[in-house]
Amino acid sequence: MTSTGIDDISLYTSSFYLDMHTLSEKRKTEYSKYTEGIGIERISIPAPDEDIITLAANAALPVVERCDKTKIGTLLFATESGVDQSKSAAVFVHRLLGLPSTCRTVELKQACYSSTAAVQAACALVARNPKKTVLVITSDVAHYPLESPGEATQGCGAVAMLITENPRILEIQPESGCCSADTWDFWRPNYSNYPLYDGKFSMINYVKTCKGAWKELSETRGLAFDQVDWFCYHLPFSTMGLKAHLKLAREAGSQKNSVELENQLSPIIHYCKVIGNCYSASLYFALCSLLDNAPERLENKLVALFAYGSGCSGEFYTGTFQPGYKKYIRTDKNKKLIKNRKEIDFETYLKFHKAADPIGESGDFTTPELTDGAFRFCGTKDHCRIYEPCSANVQ
Ligand code: HMG
Repeated sequence: MTSTGIDDISLYTSSFYLDMHTLSEKRKTEYSKYTEGIGIERISIPAPDEDIITLAANAALPVVERCDKTKIGTLLFATESGVDQSKSAAVFVHRLLGLPSTCRTVELKQACYSSTAAVQAACALVARNPKKTVLVITSDVAHYPLESPGEATQGCGAVAMLITENPRILEIQPESGCCSADTWDFWRPNYSNYPLYDGKFSMINYVKTCKGAWKELSETRGLAFDQVDWFCYHLPFSTMGLKAHLKLAREAGSQKNSVELENQLSPIIHYCKVIGNCYSASLYFALCSLLDNAPERLENKLVALFAYGSGCSGEFYTGTFQPGYKKYIRTDKNKKLIKNRKEIDFETYLKFHKAADPIGESGDFTTPELTDGAFRFCGTKDHCRIYEPCSANVQ
């Protein structure tokens, strides 16, 4: 069987963040509830000229610059914060990146799970025709109502991955465990700017789905929990991953104690803590966080990845880090990008928050030039969304 998986991976987030000190003061909530209770210190907030398309194009640019783009046969765009009900987000990015007209383009949705559906579909496409590669981009803006319990778990970002045969970073094994059920834990009707959700139930459902998916994976593969070196979870906020990991470990009969289990998760939560929830991209931010912050070299180590999308679908799958993977990751660049974001004050946050409403005014408008990224959303003309490169920001 053809070996398939992640040959290149690149992340991107907004140029701006809100610090939890600011939110805790305005919401009269203890700072430690944010930092310790849910495990978030900062959240990336998109400027009016940033959205899922600009985040995606910025994440994918370094990948496309490094590969033979004529070989990209498919672009799969995973998101739950789409900007159009008909036209796929992939088509906008296809133009911005100058991909060949022969490239298939499509958008996928199932809450935060769609990115993993895209990765699995990409592996299958590559196994069928290894001469072509697949570009998977997962990009989202997590946008909650002001003063709601979800407000502190907002965030935004994108991860782009090139899926190929004989991948240089992570080989993905074909077996996985899935768990789906029709639930109302988190959803967003077409007429609503914001998701509707039952926070407590969503956490219970996340853990239940995680256990169900693990059961199928472990039985199919004959895989014991303690045979896995590292775990990556979908992280709506960092303590969610930790709660699920501890509960799963006990159920799966792990011999590790709580401290060992917490240490097993500590490298994956760095980026979530300072970026927030990126919905479909969150699991892959956790993977980037592990690649960039692991205390040991990861060559030949086994990682198990758990994807969760409300509504709900979950999947556990595994991958093996490849010899020499460190040459192909972008640790310094990622850390610099996250560190160099600009802090916004509360008034600016309110303006940015309003601009991110998906159902805004229907007339044409232009946006101020604010992003540090290589692409920006300029506004709409005749109901068409306009995206352009920002030549001043290209590095
Ligand atoms: P809340 O009511 O604001 O918070 O909701 P809380 O009162 O439950 O407190 C949260 C934790 O902080 C608790 O810890 C408190 O004890 C602790 P726990 O009991 O859970 O261990 N705490 C403190 N800790 C230290 N110092 C303090 C302090 N005060 C309290 N001073 C909730 C929190 C997560 C429910 C809310 O933010 C929410 O509803 N978020 C949105 C939904 C969500 O993220 N669900 C997660 C699972 S579903 C999912 O992951 C899918 C999703 O990504 C979307 C998709 O798939 O499309 C959301």
